[in-house]
Amino acid sequence: TYVVTENCIKCKYTDCVEVCPVDCFYEGENMLVINPDECIDCGVCEPECPADAIKPDTEPGLEKWLSLNAEYSKTWPNLTQKKDAMPEAKEFDGAADKAKLFSA
Ligand code: SF4
Ligand code: F3S
Repeated sequence: TYVVTENCIKCKYTDCVEVCPVDCFYEGENMLVINPDECIDCGVCEPECPADAIKPDTEPGLEKWLSLNAEYSKTWPNLTQKKDAMPEAKEFDGAADKAKLFSA
């Protein structure tokens, strides 16, 4: 599966949702997640993210983000159409320590 990671937080550009063939992105207050049971590993979303926040779970160190994607994709609403990025997206793109800003 592919996983949405820390740099999505407070950016939420949403370009990713437009290209997913199985519509498996789910939206929280300040980030999106992928449902790992629905993702077919096609990889087309990875280069679409302007924040470079989408990674294959074969990359090391992503366990925490994989669990978070699995957990929140069960309850957050599905998002299939691009919407405006968060107003602070540019400022927060690449900012350090965004994990602590996560809000469900
Ligand atoms: Fe959707 Fe493909 Fe990205 Fe999985 S890898 S979330 S199926 S676009
Ligand atoms: Fe987040 Fe990138 Fe999608 S910032 S909403 S994973 S395009």
